[in-house]
Amino acid sequence: MAIEHLLILIKPDGIKKSLTGNVLAKFSEARAAIIGTKIIRVHKKLAEAHYYKLRNKPFFTDLVEYFQGKIYGEFYDRILAFVYQGEDAIARMRRIVGATNPEEADPMSIRGSYGRITTKGVYENVVHCSSDLLESEREIKLWFKPEDIVEKIYPVKKIIFEKVEKIIWD
Ligand code: PPS
Repeated sequence: MAIEHLLILIKPDGIKKSLTGNVLAKFSEARAAIIGTKIIRVHKKLAEAHYYKLRNKPFFTDLVEYFQGKIYGEFYDRILAFVYQGEDAIARMRRIVGATNPEEADPMSIRGSYGRITTKGVYENVVHCSSDLLESEREIKLWFKPEDIVEKIYPVKKIIFEKVEKIIWD
């Protein structure tokens, strides 16, 4: 079986409900390795780019708002992002994650155990998991820079940036 890479996000509802530990413990059953991780306050452009395929869905605006986590208040408007690597990792992780709709998800899965549907009809399903290899590559490249990942998983190139403003430690 092939080694695969995928993006896992613990969404703001997962952060608010303090589920990080539980979720990571469940993911460890897939025997995949974390090769990149970061916490991000998601801006609108990133949220819209992540879900660009859904831009014409009636729930798109509410989905983007939920994904930014502003409704959960200070300290919860953020997402934990992980790149996982492992044999048959996408299928293994998706089994642990469960169906997209938390009401249809296996009750032992992450979404079945912890997810809900809001009164607006948005799935608060705790985690995002890449659906296939094409999407995982697109999503990993959207969320991570090559130097944020400890393995070289896709081809890279070197370019020289000039006059780029950067914030560094004082
Ligand atoms: S599709 O077109 O609905 O089949 O798209 P899918 O690939 O399953 O991803 C849908 C993502 O939108 C989130 N979401 C909802 N989907 C359907 N209906 C409602 N009401 C809805 N609300 C939110 C859903 O959770 C999927 O995002 P991820 O991050 O993969 O969970």
